[in-house]
Amino acid sequence: MAIGVFDSGVGGLSVHHRLVERFPSADFIYLADQANTPYGGRPGEEIVALTRAGCERLFAQGCDLVVLACNTASGIALRRLQQTWLPHYRRALGRPVNVLGIIVPTIEAATGLPWEHEAERRGDKVEKLDILAVFSTPATANSRVYEIEIDKRRQDVAVFSQPCPDLAGLIEQGAPRGVLAAEVEGQVRAITLRIGRPPDRAILGCTHYEIVADLFRDALPPRTPLIHQPQATADALARYFERHPEYAMGSGAVRRFLTTGRPGAQSSLVEAFWGGPLSFESA
Ligand code: DGL
Repeated sequence: MAIGVFDSGVGGLSVHHRLVERFPSADFIYLADQANTPYGGRPGEEIVALTRAGCERLFAQGCDLVVLACNTASGIALRRLQQTWLPHYRRALGRPVNVLGIIVPTIEAATGLPWEHEAERRGDKVEKLDILAVFSTPATANSRVYEIEIDKRRQDVAVFSQPCPDLAGLIEQGAPRGVLAAEVEGQVRAITLRIGRPPDRAILGCTHYEIVADLFRDALPPRTPLIHQPQATADALARYFERHPEYAMGSGAVRRFLTTGRPGAQSSLVEAFWGGPLSFESA
């Protein structure tokens, strides 16, 4: 079996990195939709269409499972694709392919509760004690997916989303560290002002931001833990494979990196994160 990992660009490499460590005997094909990145300022219908096209490319390359290593695609497109496209596509393809997202694993990690859990709603007003910041693209923030889903499970957690319109694009372009640091510090300052104090915990709710997680770490107070999506996704996928033994692991020999954009080497920012040279082939 090959696992496809999809993102608008290089951000999903943060998730891919952890998945390869966790499942070394699986084959992996990474697809970056760099011809269309960033997704975060696009209308919902475009995000759905682009995500579907990305999944089709990965299935056509032989993947059985696609992980949307992109909050914007997971939050805006995943449910729509699972409900309206995937069942027909699976039948047409004649094999049991599936698409998974990264928001469910992140919410499980943030709430400490399984996805099926929904809090029993009582009339009494619950004091929100735990303030959780979510840094994300504007599309993810506008969807309010984190606010809605966390509120269903933990009414003692108040979620504040901070849309960062430029950050994913800057990371994708491999902007200088000073520019990225100023952008991250500005977003942390803005959310701290809105909350009135620093958050108790934070989610880097865009996979690109993991590439500069150290800048978030420096900008946030040391006592504010970060919830890391790559780890949460690897843990959730391990649980998924326990429930789905039909997905046999592959040879571990396939590690392909495809792009819809310009093939070739990635920026020095990405290569430093990756820990070595990284070249993409044309999708
Ligand atoms: N890395 C993506 C995410 O997690 C998308 C960033 C973008 O394309 O705007 O949301």
